[in-house]
Amino acid sequence: MTDTALPRITVIGTGYLGATHAICMASLGYEVVGLDTDPRKIERLQSGEVPFFEPGLPELLDKTMATGRLRFTTSVEEAAAHGDVHFICVGTPQKPGMDAADLTYVDASVAALAPLLDRKVLVVGKSTVPVGTAARLTALIHELAPAGDEVELAWNPEFLREGFAVEDTLRPDRLVFGVASDWARQQLEAAFRPIIDNETPVVVTDLATAELVKVAANSFLATKISYINAMAEICEATGADVRHLAKALAFDDRIGGRFLQPGLGFGGGCLPKDIRAFAHRAEEIGVGQAVSFLREVDAINRRRRSRTIDLVREMVGGQLNGKKVACLGAAFKPNSDDIRDAPALDVARTMHGLGANVRVYDPAALDNARRAYPELRYGSSAMDVAADADVVVLLTEWTEFREIEPSALASVVKHRRIVDGRHALDAEFWRAEGWEYRALGMP
Ligand code: UDX
Repeated sequence: MTDTALPRITVIGTGYLGATHAICMASLGYEVVGLDTDPRKIERLQSGEVPFFEPGLPELLDKTMATGRLRFTTSVEEAAAHGDVHFICVGTPQKPGMDAADLTYVDASVAALAPLLDRKVLVVGKSTVPVGTAARLTALIHELAPAGDEVELAWNPEFLREGFAVEDTLRPDRLVFGVASDWARQQLEAAFRPIIDNETPVVVTDLATAELVKVAANSFLATKISYINAMAEICEATGADVRHLAKALAFDDRIGGRFLQPGLGFGGGCLPKDIRAFAHRAEEIGVGQAVSFLREVDAINRRRRSRTIDLVREMVGGQLNGKKVACLGAAFKPNSDDIRDAPALDVARTMHGLGANVRVYDPAALDNARRAYPELRYGSSAMDVAADADVVVLLTEWTEFREIEPSALASVVKHRRIVDGRHALDAEFWRAEGWEYRALGMP
């Protein structure tokens, strides 16, 4: 491969991150092979079907499959033979019962690929990992690869948000290249040429810094959310209004309004597990004190869930047992079918456990929710689950819930009571329509 030619790309792990990356890279003109150990996932992608909910991605998959530049396989030999640049995009979930990240899939993918690397290529980690992982994997690759230390490892963290994955991949805020040599930097530049030409800022750094950028960014975002939710707790104790407080803070450019939305707090497959894994890793290397505040960020976030249940309980007279509760939302955020660490389902399940008669509706995440929590009851629309309800609880701020007419909902519920877990509704309007409206952090 010369510096000017387009490198051939493989993407190892075709889950959320990997499938998006593979499809987007092919759409930019690269020859891409996507590899996964799960034959069903590969079959679905190869037949043009995106196995998860992501706006715009199915259309882009169709378009790129038609160009012939993208294919999916379960053969690691095929991937190894194809790639000049191999992106590792496998998951790093939280270890069961622990705060640490589970690196099983990262280690397994390197162990499978490296023994087949018999020429100078670049392996690029994209997965979110504890700092120090890249150094360890470099040694492993050099030991296992027939091409030895000709093969290099780089780190290129990914910042994509679910629901905006295509946009975030094709037009990212920045690219971060953690590299150990000039050659590795040049390969990454070649692999991202069209994006760099689009005036995307590039930060070139060492491997450890690149690993840290990702967890530092997610920790900052989580801290910002928990900060405003901590202020909501203070508002609750003082009769102040966190909505007005957040609005006033947001006018200060230095603070800014993004990720300052108070409510039920953060969930999903990244923020919660990343802050825990980061705190754990910092403790392991003897600098736990530096990020001990992340434990508090996590605790504030969890308290929002129990406090939301308190509001519901207060509204129905102190006892949830036997009360009909309509839950609007299951996904961890709108425009997603992802229910990993979803605050909405956590709240629904806890209320179910307390004896409430809970019914859940979500526009996209119902299948996932049903599979994971068959003990809950589900409905086919907001109106359906709200029928005869003692209280309605808005848990994920989908547009279709924001647009509900209070009068339409009033015609199906038993009592006009609503807890707005996401500050998604116009409180004054709902109150004027005769609803008892409650939300965290406001009178
Ligand atoms: C996040 C990061 O944004 C992304 O850069 C990283 O690569 C992966 O993790 P994602 O998990 O898709 O992305 O969701 P995001 O949009 O960041 O929302 C995370 C959670 O925070 C959601 O549960 C959301 O409801 C909550 N949130 C967000 C708030 O509670 N308040 C806010 O103001 C913003």
